[in-house]
Amino acid sequence: MMFFSLQPKHNRENLYDREEELKALERSISDERMIILSGIRRIGKTSLLKVFLNEQRNPYVFLDCRNLIKNNRIDRENFNRAFLEGIKNALEKDKLGKILELISSIKISGFEITLRNRKDTSATLSDLLLNVDRALEKKGRKIILALDEAQNLRFYGRGGGDLLNLLAFSYDHLSNVVFILTGSEVGLLHDFLKLDDPERPLFGRYVEEIALQRFTREKSVDFLYKGFEQAGIEPKGDEIEEVVRELDGIVGYLSIYGYIVYTHKDWHLSFEKTTEMASRLVESEVKELVRRSRNYGYVMKAVAFGMETYSTIKKYIESNFGGITDQTLSNNLSSLIKQGFLEYHYKESKKIYDIPDPVVKKVCTHLRLNPL
Ligand SMILES: Nc1ncnc2c1ncn2[C@@H]1O[C@H](COP(=O)(O)OP(=O)(O)OP(=O)(O)O)[C@@H](O)[C@H]1O
Ligand SMILES: [Mg+2]
Repeated sequence: MMFFSLQPKHNRENLYDREEELKALERSISDERMIILSGIRRIGKTSLLKVFLNEQRNPYVFLDCRNLIKNNRIDRENFNRAFLEGIKNALEKDKLGKILELISSIKISGFEITLRNRKDTSATLSDLLLNVDRALEKKGRKIILALDEAQNLRFYGRGGGDLLNLLAFSYDHLSNVVFILTGSEVGLLHDFLKLDDPERPLFGRYVEEIALQRFTREKSVDFLYKGFEQAGIEPKGDEIEEVVRELDGIVGYLSIYGYIVYTHKDWHLSFEKTTEMASRLVESEVKELVRRSRNYGYVMKAVAFGMETYSTIKKYIESNFGGITDQTLSNNLSSLIKQGFLEYHYKESKKIYDIPDPVVKKVCTHLRLNPL
C-alpha cells in the first residue's frame, strides 16, 4: 500500500502529485529565508513538508509544535531543548557534528546545564544559530528549521515575543538558516508573525507563502484510481465519483476512504464508515472549539445550515439561541476565519461565509447546543 495510509507520508513514491509545491519549496529554499506552508486541516501539509525534507541534501530539523503545547502554553525549556537537540542531531546526521565542537559558548553535552544557567534561553538559541550559520557558510550548506503548526508558537512566552525576536534575528543575519512554518490556522499564524505591525520584530520582512489547495475533482478521482491500483483492488467508478463529490478533494478524507475499502474489502459500507471515522476526528476538534466559546458553535451551526451572510447568521442565532451583539458576532466570524473553520468570498459585493470542509459542515449541523 502506498497512497492509502493514515499517517503523514515521508517518501515521494507515497505522495500523490504535489509536484508544483515541491518545486516551489525547492526554489524558495535557495532564495528565501522564511516560508509559510498553509492549508486547511488534512490537506497534506505535514506530508508535503516531510517528503520535501526527506529529499534534502541540507541538514534539517522538524518540530511538531502541536505536540509541544500543553494548556495553552509552550514550556520554553522543553521547546528550546527540542530545538537544540534537533539541530545537534541534524548536524551529526550530516556529518557536520564538527560544527558543534567549534561552538565554544555552548556546551553541547550539557544542554540542561547551559539552559538552566542562562537567564535568556532564546539568546542561547540565537548564539547557537549564529555559530551554525557561520560554519555552514564555509561549507556552502544551509540548515532548514521546519516548524509544523507554527501558529502554536504564540504560546511561547509573552505572546511568542522571544521567538519572534529569534525569527527576526535569523531573517536579518543568518543567510544559511531557512525557516519553514506550516499552519492550518493560517490567520493565527499571521497574527503571530505580525509582518504588518511596525512595532514588531518581523515588520516588513518578505515571507514566501505556499498555500496548499484541495485536489480538483479530476485529481481526486485519479488519486483514488491509482491508489486502488496499487492496492490491487478493482476500482468502482460510480462509487468513486460519489465519494469525491461528498469529500471534496481533501486528501486526508480520500485516504481514509481508500484505507477502509482496502481493509474491509467492501464497497457497500465503505463510504458510510469513512464518514463515521472522519466525523469522529472532526467532532473532537469542533468540541474543543465550542469549549472555548459557545458562540463559535452558534455561528458554525448557522453557517452549516446555509446561513451565508452576516444578517442571516445573526437572525438564525437570535431566533434559535438568543441575542448576540454585532461586536461579538463579527469577532467570532473573524476568529473562525483565522482558525480555518470558515471561509468567505464576495458575491455582488456581499460577504458570503462558508465552511470549507464538508465533514466539519456535516458535524456542525448535528451540533447540540444550549441556548444562551
Ligand atoms: N499528496 C498526498 N498523497 C497521498 N496521501 C496524502 C497526500 N497528502 C496527504 N496525504 C494523506 O492525507 C492525510 C492527511 O495528511 P497530512 O497529515 O499530511 O495533512 P495535514 O494538512 O498536515 O493535516 P493536519 O492539519 O491534520 O495536520 C494523511 O493520511 C496522509 O497520509
Ligand atoms: Mg499536519
